[in-house]
Amino acid sequence: MGVIRSVVSGTGSYLPERILTNKELEKKVDTSDEWIVERTGIKQRHIASETEVTSDLAVKAAIKALESANLAATDIDLIVVATSTADQTFPSTATTVQFKLGNTNGAAFDVQAVCSGFVYALTVADNFIKAGQSKHALVIGAETFSRILDWEDRTTCVLFGDGAGAVVLSAHNGAGNNNDRGILASRIHSDGTYNDLLYVDGGVSSTGTIGFLRMKGKEVFRHAVVKLAGVIGEVLEDSNMTSENIDWIVPHQANKRILDGTARKLQIDPEKVIVTVDKHANTSAASIPLALDEAVRDGRITKGQVVILEAMGGGFTWGACLLRW
Ligand code: UT7
Repeated sequence: MGVIRSVVSGTGSYLPERILTNKELEKKVDTSDEWIVERTGIKQRHIASETEVTSDLAVKAAIKALESANLAATDIDLIVVATSTADQTFPSTATTVQFKLGNTNGAAFDVQAVCSGFVYALTVADNFIKAGQSKHALVIGAETFSRILDWEDRTTCVLFGDGAGAVVLSAHNGAGNNNDRGILASRIHSDGTYNDLLYVDGGVSSTGTIGFLRMKGKEVFRHAVVKLAGVIGEVLEDSNMTSENIDWIVPHQANKRILDGTARKLQIDPEKVIVTVDKHANTSAASIPLALDEAVRDGRITKGQVVILEAMGGGFTWGACLLRW
């Protein structure tokens, strides 16, 4: 039976110019390049300039994704931006992106699922496409986490960075089997029991301040590998595949040890895991589309391959998406 599939027709990304190295961080807090590299794999991160806001990063990534999809901004009928660092409390960053792209078609809104935001946004857009309500959707992960970091807290400030990545999802007809191109399965989960392990200690209706990111890293780590391996298993089962079918895993880039642990648990060759955490650090919702764009542009990910995207973050939220490129 014929079905509608959401196929990635373009990718793009943007990183702010300014690079902040571990060595520079040694001068700000009691840390060392050795500690950061050994515990996380991070060597550097990009930081937005004072005048750059999240929508600026998002628009730059979106323009590149549109170019690679060979589409104009006006072809887009849905914009979903995954972010936890919106330009303003309202309107949504997505409507600002829509305006900056010169588009007034369709709908634009934000999705907030912290580091899982991109998998959530992709799942939402996929459902719009499958329901016949969108033909070309722009799905963006964009963050300026540098603005919510406590630069005196060495347990968090060394871990995050700024950036944006985008994909264009386009409606294609598929045969309804797992040889189709496009998103074949996606699963998203949340469990608010763990709200207090990773959060920002401020907000509009609580403190009236922006607040700073706080994390009980060890406990988050403990949940991450188990939850990620579990949800990857679900999307494999949904698509009648096993880990042997996977060509590439594009994980949320939080910690190299989490990437290695998840690959080990699933018995996946570490060579199949796309790693950018060393250069970008954790860019929350932006990390998957940033890594994806890099691996597509350098020719690693090619048409017909099976790709899994997976993430876990504050809430907790977690999810995975299996697609044939
Ligand atoms: O993206 C959303 C999901 N987030 C994650 O997945 C993050 C998950 N967690 C992690 O990645 C790791 O738990 C961290 C990288 C955050 C921490 O690594 P860890 O191996 O769990 O270290 P730890 O928190 O147990 O800290 C070990 C020691 C502590 O000292 P004591 O108590 O043993 O004396 C920390 O105070 O390392 C100390 N420490 C540091 N030392 C130098 C913590 N941060 C630093 C630092 N530099 N930046």
